[in-house]
Amino acid sequence: MKGVILVGGLGTRLLPMTRVTNKHLLPVGRFPMVYYPLYNLAEAGIREIMIVTGGNSPGDFLELLHDGSEFGLDYLAFTYQRGAGGIADALRLARPFVGDDRVAVILGDNIFGGSIRPHVAAFGRQPSGAKILLREVDDPERFGVAEVDDAGKVLSIEEKPEEPRSHLAVVGVYMYDRRLWEILPTLVPSDRGQLEITDVNNAYREAGELTAEVLECEWSDAGTPESLFRATQIARKSEFWQSANLPSGQV
Ligand code: G1P
Repeated sequence: MKGVILVGGLGTRLLPMTRVTNKHLLPVGRFPMVYYPLYNLAEAGIREIMIVTGGNSPGDFLELLHDGSEFGLDYLAFTYQRGAGGIADALRLARPFVGDDRVAVILGDNIFGGSIRPHVAAFGRQPSGAKILLREVDDPERFGVAEVDDAGKVLSIEEKPEEPRSHLAVVGVYMYDRRLWEILPTLVPSDRGQLEITDVNNAYREAGELTAEVLECEWSDAGTPESLFRATQIARKSEFWQSANLPSGQV
């Protein structure tokens, strides 16, 4: 399985901190934000990763991460998304890199208190389709929101609904098979002018090919001052922070 980390966008909700740098380079405690998703994918056993950057300071990611060997990677690729076309638009750039493999996508501003390895392994055992992760939150209207029946089947996903049907937010980790590349060209921009990842997930859901699991660990995004603070608190308790070491043993 390949990994893709999305670190584009303009980070406007974190101005003025993002006026001169990319949001995903800001500190989350003792590491730059992008270290966390990189660690999460590497720790889940993924060794080939593409960083899709955009906005400010794209070259700084290369300078910071080099070839990814500090994280035990075999290969670290970089590309650049022009404009703010959304998560699904950024994913199109990863197609040549992912090829016919499966892919685990992680949003660069999503911080986890524990491992995503069990969920990635479960997707590996799934014959085909996609898997999303859910987590109960107090403020679902800020996220993609899933409605799930008693058997765990996803009945609907709505992007930032005014009247959420549940408190289950869709976490920024998405796992897809190669059907993804057939779905992406069918998407149309949303009211906010973006190709929405929620539309990708709904396409899998309508085809009966979507599974969902409730995330086992704590989680926060880090796109606003308040959530960045919360993400830092969650990161502080994580094994990554506590161990003080990258997978290679270097800091
Ligand atoms: C994005 C997704 C949303 C998801 C969230 C997780 O929102 O569109 O469905 O719940 O990430 O962080 P954004 O942060 O781009 O507004």
